[in-house]
Amino acid sequence: MIPTTTLADGTVLPLLGQGTWHLGDHTATRSSEIATLRTGIELGLTLIDTAEMYGSGRAEDLVAEAIAGMRDDVFLVDKVLPANASREGTVTACRRSLRALGTDRIDLYLLHWPGPHPLEETIAGFEELRERGLIGSWGVSNFDPADLAGLPAMPQANQILYNPSRRGPEFDLLPHHRSAQPPIGTMAYSPIEQGRLLDDPILAEVAGRHEATIAQILVAWAIRTGDVIAIPKSSTPEHVRANAAAAAMELTATDLADIDAAFPPPTSPLPLEVL
Ligand SMILES: NC(=O)c1ccc[n+]([C@@H]2O[C@H](COP(=O)([O-])OP(=O)(O)OC[C@H]3O[C@@H](n4cnc5c(N)ncnc54)[C@H](OP(=O)(O)O)[C@@H]3O)[C@@H](O)[C@H]2O)c1
Repeated sequence: MIPTTTLADGTVLPLLGQGTWHLGDHTATRSSEIATLRTGIELGLTLIDTAEMYGSGRAEDLVAEAIAGMRDDVFLVDKVLPANASREGTVTACRRSLRALGTDRIDLYLLHWPGPHPLEETIAGFEELRERGLIGSWGVSNFDPADLAGLPAMPQANQILYNPSRRGPEFDLLPHHRSAQPPIGTMAYSPIEQGRLLDDPILAEVAGRHEATIAQILVAWAIRTGDVIAIPKSSTPEHVRANAAAAAMELTATDLADIDAAFPPPTSPLPLEVL
């Protein structure tokens, strides 16, 4: 069983989902990537994160194939490109994504990062989509506390870069999410830092104590507080199985202290990092 968290509107979601950036880029790996997403869904990683940006629609196409016949088991998160996020453009982009995904609704639709269009316009587009039943709710991504303050209404979630080497959000953004009325859900992207932490000696030591891999420690760390959803991307069933198993791992106080020593938590506000 994958542990869950509840968003402000009562939606219950698994703490572990599946990312899709770069899935669908190569035909040679397509069938294995589809098998990976389907394996993940069967293991309870039912939240799938994608974006119109990923492979200019190729990731959405691949998700469509992966969730065929399983749509109702999946919570679909998609993102509109900031350049498209005028009121009309948001609606048009969503319709295009729905066609690519082969579905009639996106469960959570995000603005990928703050862009050129006034937020009021983008939100008006989101609201129109919600009223028409084309999206379940809307949110944002890569918004820092100042960006959030510019929103005319509270987003359902903010998707941000978060892992031990990117702990800035712990100082201000995560407390801001938790104290907002209603609270803003947090989704941690790149929880494995795109592979860049997989030879870290301290993480290796922690992993050794659990007979686990470093990737599993990073997944367990990202979701340790019970209210942050992590969306690692994997391309192989083996990796997604390992990630699902990591959702059940409990890091000890010693593990957390060792990780804090190697990757100190922030002591002052830091600019929000993005990838
Ligand atoms: N909102 C945004 O601006 C934004 C930005 C970046 C990412 N995202 C979302 O977040 C998702 C995840 O982030 P990401 O793809 O950047 O990086 P990530 O999930 O941190 O890392 C992906 C890398 O980790 C590897 N991996 C996954 N599971 C593993 C395991 N159990 N053992 C060893 N290696 C493992 C993958 O290898 P294999 O592929 O070989 O399995 C891949 O190389 C994206 O796919 C996307 O959906 C959103």
